[in-house]
Amino acid sequence: MNNFTFYSPTEFVFGKGTETQTGTLAREHGATKVMIVYGGGSAVRSGLLDRVKLSLRQAGMPFCEMGGVQPNPTDGKVYEGIALCRNEKADMLLAVGGGSVIDTAKAIAAGVPYEGDFWDFFAGKATVEKALKVAVVLTIPAAGSEGSGNSVITKADTLQKLSLRTPKLLRPAFSIMNPELTFTLPPFQTACGVTDMMAHIMERYFTNTTGVEVADRMCEGVLMSIIEEAPKAMAAPNDYDARANLMWAGMVAHNGTCGTGCEEDWASHFLEHEVSALYGVTHGAGLAVIFPAWMKWMAAHHPRKIAQYAHRVWHVAPSADSRADALQGITCLQNFLRQLGMPLDLKELGVPHPDIDLLAHNLHLNKGELVGNYVRLTEADSREIYHIAMG
Ligand code: NZQ
Ligand code: ZN
Repeated sequence: MNNFTFYSPTEFVFGKGTETQTGTLAREHGATKVMIVYGGGSAVRSGLLDRVKLSLRQAGMPFCEMGGVQPNPTDGKVYEGIALCRNEKADMLLAVGGGSVIDTAKAIAAGVPYEGDFWDFFAGKATVEKALKVAVVLTIPAAGSEGSGNSVITKADTLQKLSLRTPKLLRPAFSIMNPELTFTLPPFQTACGVTDMMAHIMERYFTNTTGVEVADRMCEGVLMSIIEEAPKAMAAPNDYDARANLMWAGMVAHNGTCGTGCEEDWASHFLEHEVSALYGVTHGAGLAVIFPAWMKWMAAHHPRKIAQYAHRVWHVAPSADSRADALQGITCLQNFLRQLGMPLDLKELGVPHPDIDLLAHNLHLNKGELVGNYVRLTEADSREIYHIAMG
């Protein structure tokens, strides 16, 4: 097991009706004025936004607001938000939504006290020294941004989708998680969220670090719970316990618990981010295509941990051929994703003619000569994985 620091200061307030505590929590966490950030309208239509505002008013907490954040959020909304937040002198960003909204709020929180261009943080030209507080009312279990210190933003003119990791400053101060808020999710978004949270666990699980039994077993346990609960939520969208388990799984998958002591991989995410950036696909759906393609490549090059995953998560009977075992595990995963209605190749994803050279070129331009850790991928390797994703 590697040395690690695990710092997760977020206060999670979980359960029915918890959004009514927003105002009190904002006050307890030191806000004097809140800027609400939300998306394309689901929080308006469900009445959630009104309930959040009522809670702020009842706590005597002034607020301003910015809506209109789109999935795969771009820098434009961040610049708009930074200007509004400075103008309004708000000192807490309250994201009401999913990963796209939360990540936009985080980028604004880092950008407001910074004199330069907030994109410097994402481009690796500057580090975040100071940030406003971020808080969350979560509406979709998926990205795990409610517990992570990460933000993922796309620069619209260059189509670079890059992530920023600042665990000390950008983890939310508090995250309100009411599973009932997810009853309105369309099946596609539920399935994309499930795929994303599974991917967050697998990015950590596929490691060469040995002696990480606790992390391994946590990963396997959470994966098996997701595999059990997801079909229930798909079949009955108002199944509270299924929704609740998925919501907590999405947080646990990505706040770092499952990767403690491990060298994590993340190549599949980076491979997918290029597809999202270029073709605007939904992140979870992109992962349903890219992650199994990465695993198939790995089954041929380094099957050990993929085989263990097959044995322990999918109950594939261990044989002397770890590659064959790994491939059986991948088939189980793909069958599960198919059952959720996810695409399994780039064509089904809506990208019938991907520019694979460009995808691989951009990936290595953005992320360096070698990408990932389980096997460090060259540009040629990445091209092969994109080809496998063609089906
Ligand atoms: O915009 P609205 O109208 O709210 O609709 C959203 C959006 O269309 C809808 N939705 C959300 N909650 C709903 C709902 N519809 C009905 N009922 C509800 N309760 O769902 C759609 C998707 O929302 P989005 O926020 O984009 O989803 P998600 O949470 O999957 O976030 C995806 C983004 O997060 C990034 C992804 O790359 C992508 O940009 N990621 C962020 C990470 C992080 N910060 O740690 C890690 C992830 O790996 C990921 O890369
Ligand atoms: Zn993800």
